[in-house]
Amino acid sequence: MTTATNSIYMVTMSAPTNIAVIKYWGKADTHYNTPINSSLSVTLDQTELRAITTIAVSKQFTKDRFWLNGVEEDELLHSPRFRACIEGVQKLAQDHYDAQGNLIYSKEDWKHLHLHISSYNTFPTAAGLASSAAGYAALVAALCQLYHAVETFPGEFSTIARQGSGSACRSMYGGIVAWRQGTPKQEWRDSKAEPVLEDWPQLRALLLVVSDSKKDTSSTTGMQTSVQTSMLLQYRAQHIVPARLQAMEQACHARDFGTFAQLTMQDSNQFHATCLDTYPPIFYMNDISRQIVRIVTVYNSWAGELRAAYTFDAGPNAVIYCLEQHQQHLAALLCHYFPIPKGALSGLDTSSMALEESLLQA
Ligand code: ADP
Ligand code: DP6
Ligand code: CO
Repeated sequence: MTTATNSIYMVTMSAPTNIAVIKYWGKADTHYNTPINSSLSVTLDQTELRAITTIAVSKQFTKDRFWLNGVEEDELLHSPRFRACIEGVQKLAQDHYDAQGNLIYSKEDWKHLHLHISSYNTFPTAAGLASSAAGYAALVAALCQLYHAVETFPGEFSTIARQGSGSACRSMYGGIVAWRQGTPKQEWRDSKAEPVLEDWPQLRALLLVVSDSKKDTSSTTGMQTSVQTSMLLQYRAQHIVPARLQAMEQACHARDFGTFAQLTMQDSNQFHATCLDTYPPIFYMNDISRQIVRIVTVYNSWAGELRAAYTFDAGPNAVIYCLEQHQQHLAALLCHYFPIPKGALSGLDTSSMALEESLLQA
C-alpha cells in the first residue's frame, strides 16, 4: 500500500428505482434470496428517483460505518444482506493504480480497509416505491467502482445486488428487465437480472405518492408470511406467472401497450390478493389507492382502449404506466382528483378536466 496515511479515496454512484409489472413476492431460498417466481420490471432511469451512495476508504478508518438519509444505521450495516453485498463485490476486486501507474491498493489491501458508506434516497424510503431496489443497486454499483470489480460471468453483479434486496438485481439494468428465478445448482448463480428491452421510448410512468410514511410490514417480512400461509401465492407462482411473464415479454417486444397494461393491472391485483390471502392479512393498498384504481378503470373504459395501467408495490402508492401521447391528459385528470400545490406543475393542459369530471360520475 503506497498511499499516505491521511488520504481518502472516495466514489459516488447512483441507481434508479424500478417498478415491477410482474411482481416478485416470495422467496425460494432465504439465504441466497432467490424468488419463487421470475419477475419483470421497468427501471425508472429517466427520473430523479434514485439512491445516491458514496463510499470512502482510508487507512485512518478503524471500523465500517453506514448512514442512510443522514442517520447512522449500524444494525443494517451488519445485516447478512448488507455484508453479502460488500463481501460479494470484494471477491471480484482488482488492484487499484493511480494515473501514473503506481499501485495504490492491492487486492489484498482491500480486505483490511474499512469503509464509510453514506446513502441518500431522493424519494420516500420503505414506502412501497422500491427504495431497497435503488438502495442495494447503488451500493453494489459503488462497491464495484471502488474495488474495480470485474464480473466472472454476465449478470454476476446483479446476483450480488439480489442478495441485498431481490428487486435490486433488476435496477442494475435500464429499460425493461427480467429477473430469472434460477435454480439451486451452483448456489443460484443463474438467479439474475437480464435486460429484455433496452428502451420503449414512448412509455411513461406517473407516480402518485399517497403516503410517504414507512410501511408497517416490510417487503421481506410480508412475503415470508405469505409464503408460509397463502395457498393462492403458491398457485400463482407455479401456474400463473410463467405464462403471464411470457405474454408480457411478447407484449414488450411488440410495444403492445394494451396487452402490457392489462397484464400489469391483473398482476398487481393478484399480488394484493395474495396479501389478503396471507394470514394474518396484509393491507398495502388503502382507500385512496382503490380510488386510483377506479379512476384508471373509468378512464380506460371512456377511452374504449387501455391507455393507462396502475400498479401498486408493497405500499399504498400508485405507479401508472401510459404512453407519451396520453401523459398530459392523464396527469391533468389525476391532478384534478388529487390536487397538488399551485405552481408545482407548469405547462399542464387542464382543458379536458370538465369532460373528465362528468364521465367519472357515471
Ligand atoms: P421499499 O418498498 O421501499 O423497497 P422495503 O421494505 O423493501 O421497502 O425496503 C426498505 C428497506 O431497504 C429500508 O428499511 C432499508 O433497510 C433498505 N434501504 C432503503 N434505501 C436504502 C439505501 N439507499 N441503501 C441501503 N439500504 C436501503
Ligand atoms: C412488491 O425486493 O423489497 O416490490 O428481497 O426481501 O428485499 P427483499 O424484497 P423486495 O420485494 C419487492 C416486492 C415488490 C415486487 C417487486 O418489486 O417485484
Ligand atoms: Co423493496
